[in-house]
Amino acid sequence: MNQAWKNIRADFPILDQQVNGKPLVYLDNAATSQKPQCVIDALTHFYQHVNANVHRGIHTLSMRATFAYEAARERSAKFLNAAESGEIVFTAGTTDSINLVANSWGDENLKKDDVILLTEMEHHSNLVPWQLLARRTGARLRFLPVVPGDTGLLDLAQLDKVLTSEVKIFAFTHVSNTLGVINPVTQLCARARAVGAISVVDAAQSAGHLPLDVQTMGCDFLAVSGHKMCGPTGVGLLYGRKVLLDAMPPYRGGGSMISNVDYFESKWAPAPQKFEAGTPNIADVIALARAMDYLDDLGREAIALHDEKLASLAYARLAAEIPGIRMLGPADHRSGVISFDLPGVHAHDVVTMADQEGVALRGGHHCNQPLMRKLGLSSTSRASFYLYNTEDEIARLVTTLQKIHGFFAG
Ligand code: ALA
Repeated sequence: MNQAWKNIRADFPILDQQVNGKPLVYLDNAATSQKPQCVIDALTHFYQHVNANVHRGIHTLSMRATFAYEAARERSAKFLNAAESGEIVFTAGTTDSINLVANSWGDENLKKDDVILLTEMEHHSNLVPWQLLARRTGARLRFLPVVPGDTGLLDLAQLDKVLTSEVKIFAFTHVSNTLGVINPVTQLCARARAVGAISVVDAAQSAGHLPLDVQTMGCDFLAVSGHKMCGPTGVGLLYGRKVLLDAMPPYRGGGSMISNVDYFESKWAPAPQKFEAGTPNIADVIALARAMDYLDDLGREAIALHDEKLASLAYARLAAEIPGIRMLGPADHRSGVISFDLPGVHAHDVVTMADQEGVALRGGHHCNQPLMRKLGLSSTSRASFYLYNTEDEIARLVTTLQKIHGFFAG
């Protein structure tokens, strides 16, 4: 590991605190990650020294802000290995990015009886926008199943059956927010292309955790949230292949996205500006670029290895040391997310009692209600690891769950 890892916890001031009288163990990273001081500083610096609107002014601050904002677009393109910065549209996050594709590409290209293929493990943000699109256009939804059992792996043997020539969009998550499964994204994008469908990748849980290269992946669109990758909340991006973005109509109208406006009609600016109506989230975009620098200084391969090591160890320890626990998701080759069910104990009780021990977990359906029903559950408890978590924190998790189990068993 390189030098940047040495004092990594010191980069995250929020971690150094007591919660309910115990040192905080933050294991809710799939919901949102913590922010390193350099990202917090980038926000403060912007508002203290640079703040002005972008793409409008010709005064010095406005030009500085525009330069920093567009530099963040270049940085984002590099982060994903996009062919050019014009393939990056800044959005409010993954949900916003997917809605953009559904409303713009979807409304323009889908017709009655076309098929939108999803998987059974999608987060509501990669399900509901497609349901709305299907309702508007008369298109049909279809699902690639997960294999029976608790691993949550996609049933790739079913792909030929569901990925037919009627499919126009294949939208799937790269990493499951509930089960930690990592899907074979390059293979799935190639299969979509082979039937003439576009691929839409939900990278909310992967962008800050795995090395991503959109050209190698061969995806048409990829949606990212900033706040799950050490960046601020309320900002994210959509990667789109330029030829597709160029052909798509705008999804929202307003200032900044036009080349000419008349009383009765307007002409659009080229992509990506035509998708960024109104004053954008300038400070957060700039801070997101700083988060990308931070992650790349650590190395995304190293982050992926760290996440997998911790999650696999936690999975094995919980399976061995918590009587009766039902572990969900794969035992290894996984992301940093693990989900489990303590039979007879509601996930909300697990999370509430863990919080009393200073351990932050998430309990609930994880915006994954259909998958929960498929698993025969209403909720799970979830621990999600990230770059600042440690093996000592796994020990705290195990002890905490033993205590909770003992309380309810006893
Ligand atoms: N999508 C986030 C989660 O899985 C909110 O917790």
